[in-house]
Amino acid sequence: MAGKLFGIGVGPGDPELLTLKALRILKEVATIFVAASSKNNYSLAAEIIKTHLSGEKVLKRLDFPMTYERKELETAWQKNAKQVVEALKTGDAAFVTLGDPSFYSTFSYLARTVKALAPETEIEMVPGITAAQAAAARLGIALSEGDEMVLFASGARGGEAVKKFGKKVDTLVLYKVYRQAEDIYRALKEKGLLDKTCGVSFCSLPQEKVYETFSSPSSKKLPYFTLFIVGGKPVK
Ligand SMILES: C[S@@+](CC[C@H](N)C(=O)[O-])C[C@H]1O[C@@H](n2cnc3c(N)ncnc32)[C@H](O)[C@@H]1O
Repeated sequence: MAGKLFGIGVGPGDPELLTLKALRILKEVATIFVAASSKNNYSLAAEIIKTHLSGEKVLKRLDFPMTYERKELETAWQKNAKQVVEALKTGDAAFVTLGDPSFYSTFSYLARTVKALAPETEIEMVPGITAAQAAAARLGIALSEGDEMVLFASGARGGEAVKKFGKKVDTLVLYKVYRQAEDIYRALKEKGLLDKTCGVSFCSLPQEKVYETFSSPSSKKLPYFTLFIVGGKPVK
Protein backbone atom coordinates (compact mmCIF):
# COMPACT_ATOMS: atom_id res chain seq x y z
CA MET A 1 0.00 0.00 0.00
CA ALA A 2 1.54 3.34 -1.05
CA GLY A 3 -0.37 5.52 1.35
CA LYS A 4 -1.27 5.91 4.98
CA LEU A 5 -4.82 6.50 6.22
CA PHE A 6 -5.41 9.44 8.59
CA GLY A 7 -8.57 9.78 10.68
CA ILE A 8 -8.77 13.49 11.25
CA GLY A 9 -10.92 15.17 13.89
CA VAL A 10 -12.03 18.55 12.56
CA GLY A 11 -13.70 19.89 15.70
CA PRO A 12 -17.36 20.71 16.45
CA GLY A 13 -18.17 23.23 13.71
CA ASP A 14 -16.28 26.53 14.03
CA PRO A 15 -13.48 26.34 11.41
CA GLU A 16 -11.15 28.09 13.89
CA LEU A 17 -11.37 24.98 16.09
CA LEU A 18 -9.50 22.86 13.52
CA THR A 19 -5.98 22.06 14.74
CA LEU A 20 -2.83 23.15 12.92
CA LYS A 21 -1.78 19.51 12.61
CA ALA A 22 -5.09 18.55 11.00
CA LEU A 23 -4.76 21.39 8.51
CA ARG A 24 -1.18 20.48 7.58
CA ILE A 25 -2.12 16.86 6.90
CA LEU A 26 -5.23 17.85 4.92
CA LYS A 27 -3.03 20.00 2.68
CA GLU A 28 -0.52 17.17 2.20
CA VAL A 29 -2.73 14.13 1.48
CA ALA A 30 -3.65 13.03 -2.04
CA THR A 31 -7.28 12.25 -1.21
CA ILE A 32 -9.77 13.54 1.37
CA PHE A 33 -12.87 11.53 2.20
CA VAL A 34 -15.92 12.96 3.97
CA ALA A 35 -18.82 11.06 5.49
CA ALA A 36 -22.26 12.08 4.38
CA SER A 37 -25.65 10.77 5.36
CA SER A 38 -27.13 8.73 2.51
CA LYS A 39 -30.33 10.81 2.98
CA ASN A 40 -28.79 14.19 2.09
CA ASN A 41 -25.66 15.80 0.69
CA TYR A 42 -24.76 17.79 3.75
CA SER A 43 -21.50 17.18 5.60
CA LEU A 44 -20.58 19.58 8.40
CA ALA A 45 -17.03 18.18 8.44
CA ALA A 46 -16.72 19.11 4.74
CA GLU A 47 -18.00 22.65 5.41
CA ILE A 48 -15.39 23.09 8.17
CA ILE A 49 -12.40 22.13 6.04
CA LYS A 50 -13.61 23.87 2.85
CA THR A 51 -13.07 27.20 4.64
CA HIS A 52 -9.37 26.40 4.87
CA LEU A 53 -8.75 24.52 1.64
CA SER A 54 -10.69 26.93 -0.60
CA GLY A 55 -11.19 24.66 -3.60
CA GLU A 56 -7.62 23.34 -3.80
CA LYS A 57 -8.80 19.75 -3.13
CA VAL A 58 -11.72 17.67 -4.34
CA LEU A 59 -13.50 15.97 -1.46
CA LYS A 60 -14.71 12.42 -2.04
CA ARG A 61 -17.97 11.59 -0.37
CA LEU A 62 -18.61 8.30 1.42
CA ASP A 63 -22.25 7.48 2.17
CA PHE A 64 -23.03 6.21 5.65
CA PRO A 65 -26.67 5.33 6.35
CA MET A 66 -28.16 6.84 9.53
CA THR A 67 -29.37 3.52 10.85
CA TYR A 68 -28.61 0.92 13.52
CA GLU A 69 -29.39 -1.93 11.06
CA ARG A 70 -26.17 -4.00 11.27
CA LYS A 71 -26.45 -5.52 7.76
CA GLU A 72 -27.06 -2.18 6.07
CA LEU A 73 -24.15 -0.63 7.98
CA GLU A 74 -21.74 -3.45 7.16
CA THR A 75 -22.58 -3.20 3.45
CA ALA A 76 -21.81 0.54 3.57
CA TRP A 77 -18.54 0.03 5.51
CA GLN A 78 -17.37 -2.56 2.94
CA LYS A 79 -18.24 -0.34 -0.03
CA ASN A 80 -16.57 2.71 1.54
CA ALA A 81 -13.48 0.80 2.70
CA LYS A 82 -12.95 -0.51 -0.85
CA GLN A 83 -12.91 3.07 -2.16
CA VAL A 84 -10.41 4.07 0.51
CA VAL A 85 -8.14 1.08 -0.25
CA GLU A 86 -8.19 2.07 -3.96
CA ALA A 87 -7.21 5.64 -3.08
CA LEU A 88 -4.38 4.46 -0.80
CA LYS A 89 -2.75 2.80 -3.81
CA THR A 90 -1.95 6.29 -5.11
CA GLY A 91 -0.87 7.99 -1.86
CA ASP A 92 -1.96 9.16 1.60
CA ALA A 93 -5.65 9.66 2.31
CA ALA A 94 -7.57 11.40 5.09
CA PHE A 95 -11.04 10.71 6.41
CA VAL A 96 -12.43 13.78 8.14
CA THR A 97 -14.77 13.40 11.05
CA LEU A 98 -16.61 15.85 13.26
CA GLY A 99 -15.12 16.41 16.71
CA ASP A 100 -12.61 13.69 17.50
CA PRO A 101 -12.14 10.37 15.66
CA SER A 102 -12.18 8.33 18.90
CA PHE A 103 -15.54 9.69 19.98
CA TYR A 104 -18.73 8.24 18.41
CA SER A 105 -17.14 8.53 14.97
CA THR A 106 -17.65 6.52 11.79
CA PHE A 107 -13.86 6.52 11.45
CA SER A 108 -13.35 3.53 13.74
CA TYR A 109 -15.68 1.33 11.65
CA LEU A 110 -14.07 2.50 8.43
CA ALA A 111 -10.50 2.00 9.71
CA ARG A 112 -11.25 -1.54 10.96
CA THR A 113 -12.83 -2.50 7.64
CA VAL A 114 -9.90 -1.03 5.68
CA LYS A 115 -7.48 -2.95 7.92
CA ALA A 116 -9.43 -6.19 7.27
CA LEU A 117 -9.28 -5.63 3.49
CA ALA A 118 -5.66 -4.46 3.44
CA PRO A 119 -3.91 -5.47 6.69
CA GLU A 120 -0.65 -3.73 5.79
CA THR A 121 -2.35 -0.30 5.85
CA GLU A 122 -0.81 2.20 8.27
CA ILE A 123 -3.42 4.15 10.23
CA GLU A 124 -3.03 7.34 12.26
CA MET A 125 -5.66 9.21 14.26
CA VAL A 126 -5.37 12.96 14.59
CA PRO A 127 -7.31 14.27 17.61
CA GLY A 128 -9.88 17.02 17.33
CA ILE A 129 -11.86 19.17 19.77
CA THR A 130 -14.96 17.22 20.77
CA ALA A 131 -18.48 18.63 20.82
CA ALA A 132 -18.47 17.98 24.60
CA GLN A 133 -15.42 20.21 25.10
CA ALA A 134 -16.86 22.92 22.88
CA ALA A 135 -20.20 22.77 24.75
CA ALA A 136 -18.48 22.94 28.16
CA ALA A 137 -16.58 26.02 26.99
CA ARG A 138 -19.73 27.64 25.59
CA LEU A 139 -21.76 26.92 28.74
CA GLY A 140 -18.93 27.97 31.06
CA ILE A 141 -18.81 24.61 32.84
CA ALA A 142 -15.91 22.65 34.30
CA LEU A 143 -16.66 19.03 33.35
CA SER A 144 -14.44 17.66 36.13
CA GLU A 145 -12.48 18.85 39.13
CA GLY A 146 -10.34 16.97 41.65
CA ASP A 147 -11.44 13.35 41.99
CA GLU A 148 -14.80 13.76 40.25
CA MET A 149 -16.23 11.31 37.74
CA VAL A 150 -17.51 12.17 34.27
CA LEU A 151 -19.54 9.89 32.06
CA PHE A 152 -19.99 10.39 28.32
CA ALA A 153 -23.03 8.53 27.05
CA SER A 154 -25.19 8.24 23.97
CA GLY A 155 -28.76 9.39 24.33
CA ALA A 156 -29.77 6.99 21.57
CA ARG A 157 -30.98 4.60 24.28
CA GLY A 158 -33.27 7.27 25.69
CA GLY A 159 -33.12 7.97 29.42
CA GLU A 160 -31.18 4.78 30.26
CA ALA A 161 -27.88 6.50 31.13
CA VAL A 162 -29.70 9.13 33.20
CA LYS A 163 -31.61 6.47 35.17
CA LYS A 164 -28.56 4.23 35.74
CA PHE A 165 -25.82 6.79 36.32
CA GLY A 166 -27.36 10.28 36.59
CA LYS A 167 -27.00 10.34 40.38
CA LYS A 168 -23.78 8.29 40.51
CA VAL A 169 -21.44 10.53 38.53
CA ASP A 170 -20.54 14.18 39.04
CA THR A 171 -21.09 15.05 35.39
CA LEU A 172 -23.00 13.25 32.65
CA VAL A 173 -22.53 14.32 29.04
CA LEU A 174 -25.30 13.15 26.75
CA TYR A 175 -24.57 12.90 23.04
CA LYS A 176 -27.14 11.97 20.34
CA VAL A 177 -30.15 13.16 22.29
CA TYR A 178 -32.23 14.36 19.32
CA ARG A 179 -34.46 11.34 18.68
CA GLN A 180 -34.99 10.51 22.35
CA ALA A 181 -35.45 13.96 23.86
CA GLU A 182 -38.87 13.22 25.42
CA ASP A 183 -37.66 10.02 27.11
CA ILE A 184 -34.48 11.72 28.37
CA TYR A 185 -36.57 14.61 29.68
CA ARG A 186 -38.79 12.19 31.64
CA ALA A 187 -35.75 10.39 33.11
CA LEU A 188 -34.15 13.69 34.18
CA LYS A 189 -37.42 14.76 35.80
CA GLU A 190 -37.79 11.43 37.61
CA LYS A 191 -34.23 11.75 38.99
CA GLY A 192 -34.66 15.41 39.96
CA LEU A 193 -31.88 16.43 37.59
CA LEU A 194 -33.69 18.85 35.25
CA ASP A 195 -32.33 21.93 37.00
CA LYS A 196 -28.78 20.58 36.77
CA THR A 197 -29.05 20.10 33.01
CA CYS A 198 -28.06 22.51 30.27
CA GLY A 199 -27.28 22.01 26.62
CA VAL A 200 -26.32 23.40 23.24
CA SER A 201 -27.46 22.81 19.68
CA PHE A 202 -25.08 23.65 16.79
CA CYS A 203 -22.36 24.52 19.28
CA SER A 204 -19.77 26.96 17.88
CA LEU A 205 -21.82 27.53 14.69
CA PRO A 206 -23.77 30.67 13.68
CA GLN A 207 -27.14 28.97 14.38
CA GLU A 208 -26.01 27.92 17.91
CA LYS A 209 -28.76 27.66 20.54
CA VAL A 210 -28.13 27.39 24.27
CA TYR A 211 -30.55 25.73 26.72
CA GLU A 212 -30.04 27.02 30.27
CA THR A 213 -32.08 24.07 31.55
CA PHE A 214 -33.91 21.16 29.91
CA SER A 215 -37.25 22.36 31.26
CA SER A 216 -38.35 24.50 28.33
CA PRO A 217 -40.71 22.66 25.94
CA SER A 218 -38.73 23.90 22.90
CA SER A 219 -35.72 21.90 24.06
CA LYS A 220 -37.63 18.64 23.62
CA LYS A 221 -37.67 18.92 19.81
CA LEU A 222 -34.01 19.00 19.07
CA PRO A 223 -31.68 19.13 16.08
CA TYR A 224 -29.22 16.30 15.47
CA PHE A 225 -26.32 18.52 16.57
CA THR A 226 -27.37 18.78 20.20
CA LEU A 227 -25.84 17.62 23.46
CA PHE A 228 -26.72 18.01 27.10
CA ILE A 229 -24.55 18.26 30.18
CA VAL A 230 -25.99 17.14 33.51
CA GLY A 231 -24.00 18.51 36.45
CA GLY A 232 -20.56 20.04 36.09
CA LYS A 233 -19.50 23.21 37.90
CA PRO A 234 -20.10 26.72 36.53
CA VAL A 235 -16.95 28.79 36.14
CA LYS A 236 -18.65 32.10 35.33
C1 LIG B 1 -21.76 10.92 15.68
S1 LIG B 1 -21.57 11.93 17.10
C2 LIG B 1 -20.05 12.73 16.71
C3 LIG B 1 -19.24 13.09 17.93
C4 LIG B 1 -17.89 13.71 17.59
N1 LIG B 1 -17.00 12.70 17.02
C5 LIG B 1 -17.19 14.36 18.79
O1 LIG B 1 -16.02 14.02 19.07
O2 LIG B 1 -17.76 15.21 19.44
C6 LIG B 1 -22.77 13.13 16.72
C7 LIG B 1 -23.29 13.77 18.00
O3 LIG B 1 -22.31 14.68 18.49
C8 LIG B 1 -22.92 15.80 19.07
N2 LIG B 1 -22.46 17.00 18.34
C9 LIG B 1 -21.55 17.03 17.35
N3 LIG B 1 -21.31 18.29 16.97
C10 LIG B 1 -22.08 19.09 17.74
C11 LIG B 1 -22.26 20.49 17.85
N4 LIG B 1 -21.59 21.34 17.06
N5 LIG B 1 -23.13 20.96 18.77
C12 LIG B 1 -23.79 20.11 19.59
N6 LIG B 1 -23.67 18.77 19.53
C13 LIG B 1 -22.82 18.27 18.63
C14 LIG B 1 -24.44 15.60 18.96
O4 LIG B 1 -24.87 15.01 20.17
C15 LIG B 1 -24.54 14.63 17.81
O5 LIG B 1 -25.74 13.87 17.86
